[in-house]
Amino acid sequence: MDQRKTHWEHIYETRLPTQVGWYQEHPQLSLQFIQRTGILPTGHIIDVGGGASTLVDNLLTAGFQHITVLDISAAALQLARQRIGPEAGRVSWIEADITQVDLPDQAYDLWHDRAVFHFLMQPEDRTRYIEQVRRAVRSGGHIIVATFAPDGPPKCSGLDVVRYDPEGLQHEFGPDFELVDSTREDHHTPSGVEQKYMYCYCRKY
Ligand SMILES: C[S@@+](CC[C@H](N)C(=O)[O-])C[C@H]1O[C@@H](n2cnc3c(N)ncnc32)[C@H](O)[C@@H]1O
Repeated sequence: MDQRKTHWEHIYETRLPTQVGWYQEHPQLSLQFIQRTGILPTGHIIDVGGGASTLVDNLLTAGFQHITVLDISAAALQLARQRIGPEAGRVSWIEADITQVDLPDQAYDLWHDRAVFHFLMQPEDRTRYIEQVRRAVRSGGHIIVATFAPDGPPKCSGLDVVRYDPEGLQHEFGPDFELVDSTREDHHTPSGVEQKYMYCYCRKY
């Protein structure tokens, strides 16, 4: 098992999903951005590095019919499946590293990532991730990416992160993406620490 996968499997095997620093009972900003895109219930949504997040529960409740959750950790996906119960059968679950997997061409109308892209410290990993978005999201599709903000912590889950402002993230993604909007979040971890996040909403040309 590679180091990255080992790290995340260990996290989800030893911590309750409600105790990890990034836990949100209700992913309000993500849902607001998703609603704002105007995506139809028949639209295809992928939550990249969704882990055991409750975003998928909310998307199911909202009536979305084509939801994919991708994560490097099998344990994380299992936690989400167990929580959701029989409805989990309506979701596509992919256990993979987003920098390694080959997602289908033009398959998604909406790409969501909260706190995954910021772990990619090596430029070649970021390039592979952005290539993946270019290939897997249809033209005109929506991309919502949340990272730690410039005044956020330098580490997440004990790993170094790259912190972004909206312009920095847009620059990283390049001219094939239009920055539509961005916002900040003061996230409070379950242990009460405040962390500054930055959310970007982009469209792919
Ligand atoms: C900080 S957590 C955020 C989880 C979720 N997005 C949320 O907001 O609750 C990062 C997640 O990304 C996953 N992850 C980290 N690196 C990854 C990679 N290269 N490919 C796929 N998933 C990855 C981890 O297993 C973990 O579930």
